[in-house]
Amino acid sequence: MSTSPPAQDRIPRHLAVIMDGNGRWAERRKRPRVIGHRAGARSVNLCIDFCLDQGIEALTLFAFSSENWGRPEEEVGALMKLFLNALEREVEELGRRGVRIRFIGERERFAPAIQDKMAAAEMSTRGNRRLTLSIAASYGGRQDIAAAARALAQDVADGKLRPQDIDEAAVAARMALGDLPPPDLFIRTGGDHRISNFLLWQLAYTELWFTETLWPELDAATLRRALDDYAQRERRFGLTGAQSLSRTGSGMAAPSDPSAE
Ligand code: FPP
Repeated sequence: MSTSPPAQDRIPRHLAVIMDGNGRWAERRKRPRVIGHRAGARSVNLCIDFCLDQGIEALTLFAFSSENWGRPEEEVGALMKLFLNALEREVEELGRRGVRIRFIGERERFAPAIQDKMAAAEMSTRGNRRLTLSIAASYGGRQDIAAAARALAQDVADGKLRPQDIDEAAVAARMALGDLPPPDLFIRTGGDHRISNFLLWQLAYTELWFTETLWPELDAATLRRALDDYAQRERRFGLTGAQSLSRTGSGMAAPSDPSAE
């Protein structure tokens, strides 16, 4: 189904989402939590369709945190099966629709069959540009920052970089999603108001939007509300309102946006 553009012509280029509430959705129906994750997979499709429809260039989804490995074995196993099924079922169609798929996080922690499917999905969709879909799997924002610090230290040890040359751009380039503009809008479903170790570096100037809606209940109208709200916000990036308006007319690229001048 096609949805019309939001109130103002200000669409986020990059949307980041914490898909929360699958477990509660199932528990309220007295069903096992895995049923909630299965229903959540349908909302993933809805969210991707919405982004394609709205011309959003990048979507980053928090599918599985580094901490989620600590959940009951049965739930982790069910989630792994769901990921594998989704990779088998959806990738071809997403590729046909111009979606480039990428994974961020500690992929070596997944079973080889899943790692293989991740690599194949990335390879087969690498030429697509309509929407970059990044799936954060076994991802943690602090781990991301630590990995960038390690990469910087290695470059210094190898004589490729001097400590005095380490600036924000050098760090950003070594973070996950370093080649994308930072998220403009962050959405978290499920009623909690926190970042939960998602994209800590990248969310520095992102507009945050929270909803009580549980992830499996997501619909296009909820996403539209988020975009309408985003369109009304004044993004100042630490400047005064007058300064930020004079820089771009209606808003400006974040300081660490690799596409900014
Ligand atoms: C958080 O809900 C959700 C997850 C930990 C898993 C997200 C996974 C999906 C949406 C399924 C498919 C995803 C892909 C990319 C194919 P929760 O279990 O923490 O919910 P709760 O807070 O109600 O317990």
